[in-house]
Amino acid sequence: MIKKYSSKISGLGKYLPENKVTNDHLSTLMDTSHDWIVERTGIEERRFIAKDSTEGTASMGVKAAQQAIDRAGISKDDIDLIVFATLSPDYYFPGSGVLVQDLMGIGTCPALDVRNQCSGFIYALSVANQYICTGTYKNVLVIGSEHHSGGLDLTTRGRTVSVIFGDGAGAAVVSRHENPEEGVLSTHLHSEGKHAKELSLIGPSTKKWVHEVFENYDPNDPDYHPYMNGQLVFKNAVVRFSEVIGEALTKNNLKPSDIDMLIPHQANLRIAQFVQKKFGLQDDQVYNNIMRYGNTTAASIPIATCEAWEEGKINSGDHVMLAAFGSGFTWGSSLIKWV
Ligand code: UT7
Repeated sequence: MIKKYSSKISGLGKYLPENKVTNDHLSTLMDTSHDWIVERTGIEERRFIAKDSTEGTASMGVKAAQQAIDRAGISKDDIDLIVFATLSPDYYFPGSGVLVQDLMGIGTCPALDVRNQCSGFIYALSVANQYICTGTYKNVLVIGSEHHSGGLDLTTRGRTVSVIFGDGAGAAVVSRHENPEEGVLSTHLHSEGKHAKELSLIGPSTKKWVHEVFENYDPNDPDYHPYMNGQLVFKNAVVRFSEVIGEALTKNNLKPSDIDMLIPHQANLRIAQFVQKKFGLQDDQVYNNIMRYGNTTAASIPIATCEAWEEGKINSGDHVMLAAFGSGFTWGSSLIKWV
């Protein structure tokens, strides 16, 4: 890439549905317990869109996006590109990026969806960074939003997956920055498709068409609920998180102690703690909020980054490391010198 500019995060926003769902509440729906969930994942509660609400993936993204745009001090008309990361789009097609564009009344700028699950925000940030660094665009709206609750199997059969996930949205305005020594210093992306089915939702899809669902719907067919090979995902996650954080440090000639704030994708507190220990990071060098929101997949990094920034834990000049691993398998990192 011929780099003309750098890119920086100029505004952050988040939106969490009001409806809190505790572990004790889940225990009334399935055979699980608060203690099991906390011990294995660190999660104490999550947010689910209320059953009677019309809220969805795009509309939550809009709320996060509006806050990010306001904080960036720009107008929606200054947005040159929308990049929307989700594994739970409102529709099979079109993507949720164009829905955000319509809901926000943003003219005819391009809008694209990224389908990289837990790594979606890092992939989306990488796209934004490339367009900005080449001088093509000045302000890119990057959104991660997930509406998991509608698709989870909230019975004992689905408990390994369903206690983990929560709904929510986060957004960042990524803007042109003149100083190449600051802003997004690098992004690092990887995938390994041989594990595609180990964390997946098969139907409805072109492999299981919608008419099949209506005609032969079998609520016991596991294909219609997310599947996760939890232990395999866990084992790969700790390795890949470590590799890709190391890759970003090496690329930028930095040591773990140079990280002011690591924001790992909020998949499981035990994964984050493993990574923290591996790099010898102190508690104030890592931000976790999985306790409150569960795993919000593509939304987890922008929500956590937004919250850390709101709490004054990210400041100008800080080295902020974002890292994610998830379905695909896909994983990635980005090192940012905060402006
Ligand atoms: O964001 C995308 C990336 N995702 C991840 O990184 C998730 C990675 N994986 C994990 O976080 C963990 O594998 C889980 C939290 C999903 C599961 O924890 P685990 O320690 O791997 O548990 P397990 O699947 O080995 O299950 C242990 C036991 C089993 O019972 P038996 O066979 O030992 O009798 C399960 O049936 O726990 C049982 N179990 C549960 N018990 C109570 C599984 N889910 C539950 C549950 N409540 N919700």
